[in-house]
Amino acid sequence: MIKDVIYSIESELKDTWKDEPTGHDWEHIRRVRDMSLHLQKIEGGNRDIIHLGALLHDISDHKFNGGILNANGEAARIWLKKLNCPESISYDVCELVDKISFKGANVEIGELSIETKIIQDADRLDAIGAIGIARAFAFGGNKNRPIYNPSVNPILHDNFEQYAKSKSHTINHFYEKLLLLKSKMQTVEGKKIAETRHAFMENFLKAFYTDWNITSKKND
Ligand code: ADP
Ligand code: NI
Repeated sequence: MIKDVIYSIESELKDTWKDEPTGHDWEHIRRVRDMSLHLQKIEGGNRDIIHLGALLHDISDHKFNGGILNANGEAARIWLKKLNCPESISYDVCELVDKISFKGANVEIGELSIETKIIQDADRLDAIGAIGIARAFAFGGNKNRPIYNPSVNPILHDNFEQYAKSKSHTINHFYEKLLLLKSKMQTVEGKKIAETRHAFMENFLKAFYTDWNITSKKND
């Protein structure tokens, strides 16, 4: 029964999201699902809720639904109802999918269930490291953001609306979100994986500034 619901959602997502250009394509969803199921084996939590929550975590994200905040839960509820997903599972899935998304550096988040923590960690692991860097520049390019502008400093947002409206250059996104994620990981296994990916981003930024400064000095 739940297997059919999962299969049906997976098939449609594969189809609809296969060429999504901002780093939120089917392969992102698949990686978050696979990482979530890996974390579940170590950390526990309800496997079906985690599987469905991971598949649906970006279903109506503000970054590509025209700017509507917290719309995932309602979109998930409609879809799960259509597939006759048991209420005992769909209720928790819809509750958690609005909580996953990063809402700003200084935005307080309340106590989360183990299922929410796991999917959030898996989603954040996909935002950092080599793949995270690739996704950030894919997103920035798609939204017409410059790669870098040294005269525009990062902002640590304290509300979701402000964070969602930000149109800064992509290097700032590292300081506004990506480099903050390591210390916000909530599972032991997630923290461990984040260490290596975080170090890779720090090395990338070091190399980026070295290259940037060599070329700008040449014209002094
Ligand atoms: P979340 O909802 O927690 O932000 P997502 O799965 O939607 O997580 O993925 C967010 C990813 O989208 C970021 O990690 C980054 O790669 C990209 N992204 C979002 N905002 C920006 C931005 N302002 N500049 C560059 N990339 C961004
Ligand atoms: Ni995501």
